[in-house]
Parts: sequence; structure tokens; C-alpha cells
Amino acid sequence: EHRFQPINLFEYEKLAKDYLSQMALDYYSSGAWDEITLQENRTAFERIKLRPRVLVDVSDRHLNTSILGQPLQLPLLIAPMAFQCLAHPDGEVATALAAASAGIGMILSTMATKSIEEVAGACEQFRDSVRWFQLYIHKDRGLTRALVEKAYKSGYKALCLTVDAPVLGQREKDRRNEFALPLDLHLANLATISGLDISHEKGESGLFTYFAQQLNPAVTWKDLEWLQSISPLPLVLKGILRPDDALRAVEYGAQAIIVSNHGGRQLDGAIASLDALAEIIPAVNGRVEVLLDGGIRRGTDILKALALGAKAVLIGRPILWGLAVAGKAGVSHVISLLQDELNIAMALSGCAKLQDIDASLLKFTRI
Ligand code: FNR
Repeated sequence: EHRFQPINLFEYEKLAKDYLSQMALDYYSSGAWDEITLQENRTAFERIKLRPRVLVDVSDRHLNTSILGQPLQLPLLIAPMAFQCLAHPDGEVATALAAASAGIGMILSTMATKSIEEVAGACEQFRDSVRWFQLYIHKDRGLTRALVEKAYKSGYKALCLTVDAPVLGQREKDRRNEFALPLDLHLANLATISGLDISHEKGESGLFTYFAQQLNPAVTWKDLEWLQSISPLPLVLKGILRPDDALRAVEYGAQAIIVSNHGGRQLDGAIASLDALAEIIPAVNGRVEVLLDGGIRRGTDILKALALGAKAVLIGRPILWGLAVAGKAGVSHVISLLQDELNIAMALSGCAKLQDIDASLLKFTRI
């Protein structure tokens, strides 16, 4: 079926274009406005260079770790991403199964096209897999609460609250395309409870309009108390870019933070998530687990993020490319490519286990 078997994540991106509608490809790949932050996420990784350590016994390598006390075979989770059935009919179910079988984490989006229960049900055989639910707080508190309760009942292990999207960033291709879901796809978690869906809007992205109408832009730190009162799940804040916000997250009881600019899809011109990580790690000083996403495309990117102090990283778009090309098998292959690259990068830099990866491996260069 494939014209060739991709050997890295960039090749997956190229190949995926043949498997996606223009509207889906634009939605998946875009950043906000001029896509400066989208580019910067990559440039930040390219700027940091490595100082490999030699003559270390690296014959036996271990890539496993834990997050919020749960085991991970790799320091990797799949980022929450909306509308995965645009890539493949199995959508989020395929993604979750590939993640669980590889022993990595998966975060299901509020805007998923497969339901909380369906995804959990499909993964039943994987007992201690790391599956979290990503939350967008809607104006309708009852609806928000219903989502949280469903996630808890279905065995999701943490609530990942996205804090960088009081309104949706403007992705101009989506605006031009008047982005909407095809008639056979729905907001699986919302349509059933509330009849909400992404509909066609003249001259605007239907998703942008959905956010403007349904999400609550008035959410503040105080609302975290409410969220913690309606569910015993640990709270993870996704979309932190400043040390003071990171410290506040600690103060308000978040158990982990995800340093992220939403893959360059929210505030264009925001700093690269990797640069934010360098500022945030010393500020939080080990009080919470810190994750990073944005621009991870190679095993060496994971090595660099861990050397800066991240406990694990999230990967976004490349998972969608794998999903588009070959469903669950494509996602599994993308994960194994990254795993192999990290494994080799560790050997080549003198690290037998993740704990050996430290800041002395890094050299920052200005450009
Ligand atoms: C996202 N992201 C996202 N984040 C979130 O909290 N909730 C969501 O529903 C979505 N949806 C979504 C859709 C698509 C198509 C993309 C590409 C991204 C952001 C995502 O979780 C993550 O922060 C970035 O994708 C990470 O950057 P990379 O790995 O894609 O560069």
C-alpha cells in the first residue's frame, strides 16, 4: 500500500499529505497568524547543541520512567489533539491503542471524535496505561462537570486543563477554508450530552466560532479550586510559558505542568516552548513534574528537553501523520521511530539511562 516506508517523522509528514483532505491537512499543520512561534519551536531545538560524553558503558540502555507515579516505557505522551477521525476512521481509538501497546501516555482531547468511554473501552486490556483527559472549560458548568465525571468514571488518571486558549488562536487557512467537520463526524463527548457541534460558518473557522460561543474566557486561578472540588483526579496545567505562572500552578495544587505554546497555534510570537522550559525549570525547582511539548521531531529533541529538566515530552502532529498514513500501525511506527532515535542518541551521548541525561550535555549558542 505505501509507496515507501518512512524512516523518520519528517517523511511521515510528507507522506500524510496524500491521505488527508486539504481542509484536514491545513487544520492539522497550521500555526496561528504568521506561524512564527510554530517555526521557533523547531529553531529552538536546532540552536541547542550537544556535548557527548565518551567511554561510558552504554551496552544496556533503559528508557523507562514514570509520570504522576505511573510507569512509562518511554518519556513520551501523545498530546491532546482534536478531531482525529479526520485522519483515519479509527481516530482516537487507534491512537490510544498504539500508545497503550507501546507503554507511553495518551491525552484525549475534549474535542475528540471518539468518546471518552469508547477510547477507555478499547484499551481495557492495558491495565496501567497512562491515559489522561484534556479539559476545555465551557461556559456551561454542568456540561464541564459532566465531562470531568465521565473521565473519572472511565478510568482516566489525570485532568489536563488547557490554560492557553481563552479564545482560539487564529489559523488563517482554517478561516479561509471555513473549517467545519464533515457530516459524519461529531464532537463525541459533547454532541451526546449537549448537542454541540462544529458547524459551518461563513468567512470563519467553525472551531473559532465554537470557542467564542461555548468556552469560558473568564476562567482564572480561582476556578481551579472548583475543578479540584468536583473530581479527585490530579490536575495538570497545559500551556504554561512563564516562571511566575508555573509557580502559581504549584501554589494552586497542580501536580504537573506542561510547558507549551499549543504547537504555535495560539499566540503567535510567543516564545518557543523549549526556551520557556529553560526559564521554568529553575523556578519550580522540582516541586512539580514538568513536561514539554512543541516541535519534538527527533530523538535528540527528547534528549535536549530532558537535559533541560523535563520529566517527559508530548508529541503532537507527527502522531496525526502516522494515523493518516496507516491508522494504529502508523502511530505505532511513529512511536517506535522516536524510541529508536532516543535510544541511539543516548548511547552516542554516553547515557545508559534517562537519569544520566543532564544539563552538562547542552551548549546554548546564540544566533
Ligand atoms: C492541538 N493541540 C491541542 N491542545 C489541547 O490542549 N487540546 C486540543 O484539543 C488540541 N487540539 C489540537 C489539534 C491539532 C490538530 C494540533 C496540531 C494540536 C495542541 C497539542 O496538544 C500540542 O500542544 C501541540 O500539538 C504540540 O506541538 P507539536 O508536537 O504538534 O509541534
